[in-house]
Amino acid sequence: MKRYFIHTFGCQMNVNDSLRMSEVLGKLEYRPTPVPEEADLIILNTCSIREKAEDKMLSALGRYRTVKLARGTLLGVGGCVAQQEKDKLLKKVPYLDFVFGPDSIVKLPEIIGRVQGERERVVETAWVDSEEYVFPRADPETSRGKVTEFVTVMKGCDNVCSFCVVPHTRGREVSRPFPDVLAEVADLARVGVREVTLIGQNVNSYRGGISFAQLLLRTAEVPGIERVRFTTSHPHDLSDELIEAFRTQPKIMPHFHLPVQSGSNPVLKRMRRDYTVAQYLERLEKLRAARPGIAMTTDIIVGFPGETEEDFALTLELTEKVRYDNQFSFIYSPRPKTGAALKEDEWGPVPHEVKIERLERLQKIQRRISGEVTAALVGQEVEVLVEGPSRYNPLKRFGRTPENRTVNFDGDAPAGSFVKVLVESATPNQLAGKQMAVLSPPTVMPAAEAPQPEISCVVA
Ligand code: 5AD
Ligand code: SF4
Repeated sequence: MKRYFIHTFGCQMNVNDSLRMSEVLGKLEYRPTPVPEEADLIILNTCSIREKAEDKMLSALGRYRTVKLARGTLLGVGGCVAQQEKDKLLKKVPYLDFVFGPDSIVKLPEIIGRVQGERERVVETAWVDSEEYVFPRADPETSRGKVTEFVTVMKGCDNVCSFCVVPHTRGREVSRPFPDVLAEVADLARVGVREVTLIGQNVNSYRGGISFAQLLLRTAEVPGIERVRFTTSHPHDLSDELIEAFRTQPKIMPHFHLPVQSGSNPVLKRMRRDYTVAQYLERLEKLRAARPGIAMTTDIIVGFPGETEEDFALTLELTEKVRYDNQFSFIYSPRPKTGAALKEDEWGPVPHEVKIERLERLQKIQRRISGEVTAALVGQEVEVLVEGPSRYNPLKRFGRTPENRTVNFDGDAPAGSFVKVLVESATPNQLAGKQMAVLSPPTVMPAAEAPQPEISCVVA
């Protein structure tokens, strides 16, 4: 019996792709191992959103080279770097056996066959035409014992944000037909999943036969599903219909991740984000009116080419104004072939020290705000969907609130239960407390707590 190990970098799309890879490898009679040194096949599923992600994957490849030398392990690179670099990656990394793009996961058996049988080094990075693309159907057995799962609803991105490599690595937008999405959600509910997150690079421009708002509403009606989430959204697709869905369907969870990227209109324009700060705020206010208390999170890029101190001050101002629950903030990193990378010299690169200094200032403000938001919850009771034991202390339980805040608490409810937790203390990113009552038991008793995923996978 041969064994494989998948090292996953990047976003949830990549984590899901790794699961699909593991299903394909399972059919080839490969079994997962959590120890790369024992693997006959190592796949790196890569991310190229920022340079750092690429660097991390190159250093991981170096480590796995030693495994290859010791036991002849096959080494493959998939995901976004593979799609971007194609055969160049084989030239750059002479000990690499194969390179495959996100559309070629189903071809893994053939690729591995060619590498083994014909001692060929293989590159498979062709796009499948939008009309012909079939989304791999997740095997629900992989999710048995899990409480929350991700469901792919679309892939690719048709936006043209000038900083972003995704259109180059994931191609044109393709939506998954809604009956397929709903069938997968129903499969998941049958094995005990109670919360699903619909994922795609740009979910609310979904066009799989019904609107995205309708897809959320239909998902919420699948028997057994109690919570529905989604990620990621672009502000220009935040329709009134979607806002209305938040008003009418309580199973759509009160959390919205709405990347703004910058608080300055001239920067947004150069980013080709096609909204102004005022328009963004108008959407956000409407959403807050439809679902009071909704938690807002966002992504920010600091040090975008030409960003002045005044531009950056506007980002700080926006941060204070919105009072986000949380922000994911990044230093601008020029990506190959993107509009901003090509124009960086013309617009004026921001020196690295300035970028670092701005990032620290922004994060300090956000940490304070996040701390204030969570501190206000101390003494209150929150509803938590129990996911299993706490990572920090196996004697405690772990789960999330509707707003997606993480909670570690004293209690005994099994994974899949809904409980009331009294919040006793809080840090900017976490709540802690004790279980006061069980609101509902799991729909399917998990066979084992803390299910071991079928996939041996390190996410970096
Ligand atoms: N440099 C820095 N951050 C980036 N992001 C996307 N591209 C870049 C880049 N070139 C950030 C954006 C996006 C998040 C997923 O990553 O904020 O929303
Ligand atoms: Fe990284 Fe984007 Fe690819 Fe996800 S889609 S792995 S974030 S480059």
